[in-house]
Formats: sequence, structure tokens, C-alpha cells
Amino acid sequence: MFNEAIKLTSGENVPVEMHKVRIVQKLNLLPIEERLKAMEGAGFNTFLLQNRDVFMDMLTDSGTNAMSDQQLAAMMVADDAYAGSESFNRLAEAIEEVFNKKLFLPVHQGRAAEHIISQVFVQKDGVVPMNFHFTTTKAHIEYAGGTVLEVFNDDALEIKSKKPFKGNIDIDKLKAAIRQHGKENIPYIRLEAGTNLIGGQPFSIENMREVRKVADENGLMIVLDVSLVGENVYFIKMREPEFKDKSVKEILHTMCDLADILYLSSRKFGCARGGGIATNNRELFLKMRDLIPLFEGFLTYGGMSVREIEAMAVGLREGLDWDMIKHSPEFIRYLVDSLDAQGIPVITPAGGLGCHLDATGFLPHLNSLDYPAGALGAALYIVSGARGMERGTISMDRDANGNDVPSEVELLRLAFPRRVFTLSQVKYVEDRIKWLWENRNLVGGLRFVEEPKVLRFFLGRLEATSDWPQKLMAKFRADFGDSL
Ligand code: F0G
Repeated sequence: MFNEAIKLTSGENVPVEMHKVRIVQKLNLLPIEERLKAMEGAGFNTFLLQNRDVFMDMLTDSGTNAMSDQQLAAMMVADDAYAGSESFNRLAEAIEEVFNKKLFLPVHQGRAAEHIISQVFVQKDGVVPMNFHFTTTKAHIEYAGGTVLEVFNDDALEIKSKKPFKGNIDIDKLKAAIRQHGKENIPYIRLEAGTNLIGGQPFSIENMREVRKVADENGLMIVLDVSLVGENVYFIKMREPEFKDKSVKEILHTMCDLADILYLSSRKFGCARGGGIATNNRELFLKMRDLIPLFEGFLTYGGMSVREIEAMAVGLREGLDWDMIKHSPEFIRYLVDSLDAQGIPVITPAGGLGCHLDATGFLPHLNSLDYPAGALGAALYIVSGARGMERGTISMDRDANGNDVPSEVELLRLAFPRRVFTLSQVKYVEDRIKWLWENRNLVGGLRFVEEPKVLRFFLGRLEATSDWPQKLMAKFRADFGDSL
């Protein structure tokens, strides 16, 4: 059920936007011939497309959320000062109100926080257990000489599932990891809210309390990534009975009180472009503090513009509003449930962040070295103008011997930037996914022609392993005539 408070006479139930659109950006929908040219020009990598060639930009929800009138207004009263800016004080107050943490270090975005935390706490050969890695998190931990150890439940990677909390940590695996590696080699346990790479799946407070217990028994700290916390809170309220009647703020504080350090990319939660690290522990704060002026900027801006700092302060507070945080997961659920009902392989239950197509199930004739999630992303752009993001083997870098590391899941993520798309746009992309599903046998593989060593998914260039894109286009023209 969406919006139980709003009943339509038709009996149909749809998520209704609880905001109105007051600033718009014109979109282009190119003919398929030009979309194919744009895809070839981008080396079959959706990161390398020009936004002017994109109809629905579903690459990410990072820095692309709609901002509110209140955020835009706040940007006009920013206090421009290198040191001691009032804008910073307003942000620090918002951080305390939203996350219940008194000590705050600003950074320019989420990975900058990961850089600082990894440099300070991750020793050489240190092992960081976590529910699941994020690309930049893993890169920063490895850059500091450590490794990532994922201790998720066996069901976390099941594509079709009814499990409410696939982002939970498996407590037995966590305890075994601590026994095996020794607590002195574990700098911290990391928990990621709204676990990005497995489909925006949440963890429960019940699970986090158990993680806390294990951490306390072993004298370990918990670092919580709250970049996607809004959606995790939404799912806790919807799915964890104890929190059914609790406010967003109460749930957030319960969660944050269980962590020693938290950090975020406010390009996601907060709908601005910045980030930060927060804690109530002065000793930990002081350990990290000195790296901020070295890598980010003075302590009262941390690489952010004062305008973004003001927007972030307002955006974080707006994250306490139920109407605000429920919008994106409900739109995602609308698309996921429609695709699932048609037998199209998609991660269920619907998570936060986006709709995740399962490329292994979608393109079973490809193997992981054909890069099925990348191929599906290229094909969907060609047939619809919507660009998603590959979250599969291309997103894994090669191992030390230069071999591809097949990803455990091959996903095409279609992100829902918050409050950006309308329901008719969602219906359009649903229709094109359905057409692609019916014509899936036409989609072939990709291979690298230019491959960076680190985070290759950002800038790598690929090509089709056959003339499948041309055949796909010909079938589109045969079925749709001269329609866009
Ligand atoms: N942690 C999580 C859970 C993230 O999703 C991201 C970014 C980061 C950290 C890094 O933050 O981009 O501000 O440096 N995720 C983006 C995405 C890039 O598209 O999912 P950042």
C-alpha cells in the first residue's frame, strides 16, 4: 500500500508526490540512432555519456537530488569566511539535532571521510569487517594497507527474497572473523546503512544492537556510514515492529547512539554536495581532526562551499520529515513490484536508492566476463535514453595477478534521485525495460579497450563483442516505427 491516507475512486494505489515542482530542467530524448552513437562515443560506459544525451539520468542519486525552496533560500544567507563561519555553526547544530553527535568534522564528500578514517585507524594488514563494501570504501581501506571482510547473512545476495533486512551483519561470522584475525588487527567494524551494492537493502536496529554487543565484548568501535540512512530509517519504521510508532528522529538517534563514529556523503542524505564525520568521543575526534586542514580545508568548511554547507544543514533537517524520506523508496517499490509481477528479474524486496535489475537473470546467455550488467546498462540506454550504473564485474578491479574478479552479483542500478522523477517517467522506463526483456536475446557482451587500474568503472572504455547494438536498434525500429 502506498499513501494509505489517500484513496483513489478507481481503487488503484499509487505513490503520490507530497511536493510540487517549481523549478524544471528541460530534457532531451534523442532518436535511437543518436543514442547508439552517443553510447559508442562513451565507450559503452554510462559514466562517460554527456548528460545532454540522457533522458532519465538514473546513474546515481549522488548530488542529483531535487533541492527544496528552503535549501535554496538558505544558500543566499551563507556566511563566507575561511575560518569561524556562521554557516558551519548552523551545520554543526543540524548534525547534533539529526544524528545526536556533538563533534563534527566537515569534508567535501563521502569518500573524503573514508580517506580520513582509513588513514587514521586502518593499520597495514588491518581487517575491517562490514555488512558489505562500497567501492570507494574498499579502495580507501586498501589504500591504507588494510582489507575488507564482508560478514553478511547468506540470504543477502538472494535476488528474489522477502527478507526485510538483507543488510544485516551475520553475528556468527562476525565473531568468527574476530577470533580468526584477532581483535588487535581489527581497527573497527563498519556498518553501511541502506547497503548500496546489494540493492539499497537495510539493516535492523535489532541487528545493530547485537553488533554493538560484540564490539563491546572485544573493545572494538563501530563506524557507521549514514550516506543512505534516510531509506534505512524508512524500512525500520515499516518493517521492524518495535519502531512502528517512532519518529524518524527517534529511530535515527537510536541507530546513531550505537555507533562511535559516523560519516556521510550528503550528496545523498541531505540533498546537498558535501560530507562529514561526527562523533561524541573527543579522543577519536582529535585523532582525525588534524588531517582535515591537510586534505580538505580549514575546520569550518572542509572543502565545501559555504552555500552548500547552508543547503546541507537545511537538507539534513528535512531528512527528519517522513514525507521526504518515504518518497524515493515508494517510487522505487512501484517500479520494482511492477517489473517483478511481469517476471522480470529485479532485486526484491525493493530497497532504497534505486531499482536493481539482475543482469545474470536478465541475460543468462552471457557469462561474467562478458560484463552482463555493463551490457544491460548500454542496451537500456540505447532503447530508452535512461542511463543506469553497472554494479557488477566491471565495478570490481582486477586482482594482483591481473585477473578479472567476477562479482557476486551482476546488477544494473537505476537510481532514483530524491524528488526528481514523475510517475509517468517511471512508467516510461518500465515500458522500455519490458521491451528489452522481450528482446533480451539480442543483447551481447562487452570487452575493455581502455582500462584504468583503480576504480576502472568510472573511466574505462569498452566495445561490443559483436554487432549486437545495431541489431537491437533495428528491432526497435521494426517494433516502434519512427517513435522515439
Ligand atoms: N558510502 C556510500 C554508502 C555511498 O553510496 C557513497 C557514494 C559513498 C560512501 C561515497 O560518497 O560519492 O560523496 O564520495 N555513492 C555514490 C553512488 C557514488 O552513486 O552510489 P561520495
